[in-house]
Amino acid sequence: MVGIGSLVDLLLFYTLERALYNRMVCSLGKNSQQVKKAIALWLMLEEIGYHDLIPTINSSDNATIESLSYKALQCLACIQPDSVQPFQFR
Ligand SMILES: *[C@@H]1O[C@H](CO)[C@@H](O)[C@H](O)[C@H]1NC(C)=O
Ligand SMILES: *[C@@H]1O[C@H](CO)[C@@H](O)[C@H](O)[C@H]1NC(C)=O
Repeated sequence: MVGIGSLVDLLLFYTLERALYNRMVCSLGKNSQQVKKAIALWLMLEEIGYHDLIPTINSSDNATIESLSYKALQCLACIQPDSVQPFQFR
């Protein structure tokens, strides 16, 4: 069973991610499943060394966030089995 202390720690740990998720879904009207996928990719990129990626994304303007989430979904589509590689990234 998870204690109250560790539950609070868990919630605090992802505060920024949840704020960014709410901003993208509630304010920008993005699809919640797609936002989860984009943020999951960004968390993975932070894990492999792109530190402060999510704070940097959060500090960007709406248009940049929309563009970065579109790119994240394109990257995820590329690594699907049998995916067609994009001709070029725009
Ligand atoms: C981002 O979009 C939200 C919702 O449309 C809007 O309230 C906010 O002012 C926008 N922020 C910027 C920096 O454009
Ligand atoms: C994330 O971005 C929002 C909107 O610009 C801002 O209000 C908030 O303070 C930012 N959070 C952090 C931790 O920078």
